[in-house]
This record gives sequence, C-alpha cells and structure tokens, in this order.
Amino acid sequence: MSQLWDAETARRYDTPGVGMFAPELLRTTADRLAALADGGRALELAIGTGRVAVPLAERGVPVVGVELSPHMVDQLRTKVDEATIPVVLGDMSSATAPGRFSLVYLVFNTIGNLLTQEDQVACFRNAARHLLPGGAFVIELGVPDLRRLPPGVQATVWLDEPGYLALDTYDVLNQQLVSHHFRFGDGTEARLGRTPQRYVWPAELDLMAQLAGFELESRDADWDGAPFTAESRSHVSVYRLPG
Ligand SMILES: C[S@@+](CC[C@H](N)C(=O)[O-])C[C@H]1O[C@@H](n2cnc3c(N)ncnc32)[C@H](O)[C@@H]1O
Repeated sequence: MSQLWDAETARRYDTPGVGMFAPELLRTTADRLAALADGGRALELAIGTGRVAVPLAERGVPVVGVELSPHMVDQLRTKVDEATIPVVLGDMSSATAPGRFSLVYLVFNTIGNLLTQEDQVACFRNAARHLLPGGAFVIELGVPDLRRLPPGVQATVWLDEPGYLALDTYDVLNQQLVSHHFRFGDGTEARLGRTPQRYVWPAELDLMAQLAGFELESRDADWDGAPFTAESRSHVSVYRLPG
C-alpha cells in the first residue's frame, strides 16, 4: 500500500483552500476534534501531510501521528517540525506511539485503506491501546454507495468536472472497491491514480469497535453535527472507551 503514496502523490496531495483543504471544512474538523481532545493529547492514525493535524495543533492540542508513507511525512515537514508534531513511521493497525492519548482519530475514509476485516479490527484495537480510560476514537468514513449499483453495473462515477473524472469499481463479493481518479488536459493523455479500499457499513464498524471495547457515543453526517440519515453519504462516528 505504501507505494501508492509515493513522492509524486505526496507532492500533489495538498490543494490549499479547495476540496478537502477548504478553510471552513478544516475549521469545523479541527474545532470538533479539539473539543473531543478535552485538554488532552491527540493521535492521528494515517496523518498524511498534516491536513487536519496542523490546524488541530494550532489550537493548542498536542498532536502525534502514525503514517506509513515517508513521502507524506516529508510534505508534513515542510509545514511543521518533528518537535511540533512527532510522527511514528509504521502501519496504523500495529504501530506504537509513545504515551497515552485522550483522542485518537482516523479521517478521510482512511480505515478503508486497510484491505481486510482482520486489519481493520486490529486498527480499532490499536486505537484502544493508545487511549486513556474514557478516551475517544473518531472515524470519518463514507457510506458505501451500493444503492447506486443496479444489477449488472459494477462502477459509479462520483465526480465529473472539467479535466477530472473519478469513479469507483466494486467487487461486492469481496467487499472491495477501487477508486480511480483520471486527470487530463486538452490532449489525449490522462494521469490515473488508483486507491484500493475495503468498504465498510456503519453497522460493521460498530461491531469492530465493540470487539475493541468501545461504545458508539455519536454518529453525525458531518463535522458540524448534521443529523446522520438514510441519505447521508458520509459519517463522523465517535467511539468511547469506558471511563
Ligand atoms: C487519504 S490520505 C489521508 C491523510 C490525512 N489523514 C488527511 O486527512 O489528509 C490516506 C493516508 O493514509 C496513509 N496510509 C495508508 N495505509 C496506511 C496504513 N496501513 N498505516 C498508516 N498509514 C496509512 C497514506 O500513506 C496516506 O497518507
């Protein structure tokens, strides 16, 4: 998986001010996480280039990261040094960061990057292992788009912009999808990025959390706390360990 997040991908990852880097999204995300950290330390699993960790640290929350790709960490280091946001290079289902935390979080659909149920359960257990009693584990994850797949259709186009097409192909037997991102200009050449994922229903996520000793505290449709409904495309779920 780490070769997916290579130097070129890492260099292009940040889109300052737009998409997942929109200031309003980052503000509500960091505000909610800072409140959940409740004066304690936070651990981001798969910290990437620090999209969320940097604004969270700017709110005075001590943040530590775990990350598989050294290239993503190189980009993070263009923003903050090791003393400000230390990072452990390793797999989020098994790596250990020193100390205990009041908050562990894993955002932007990234639990799906673990391609087996076993690894996803291990990730929940790893989050629990890093938390203080009463600590919270926050997951942001898309709801699988299977309602858009009529019989015989195995792909959904979910983004169609000038110069950018994105589609997911599904293997529903094995609960896997591959996100394909095609970026192109006026010519005939396109750049293709592909990310395999194991998609997860909220109910399965809750069961994994239960196996690791968590209880579901809340599930919202976004970082602002909009109600999660049958039409929600994504969710922010807060799991908590007993105090
Ligand atoms: C979609 S990016 C999210 C980065 C960051 N959390 C954010 O919100 O912008 C996914 C990140 O997960 C990392 N990653 C993928 N599999 C991982 C694993 N098993 N352990 C740790 N990091 C992983 C990738 O290297 C990449 O930085």
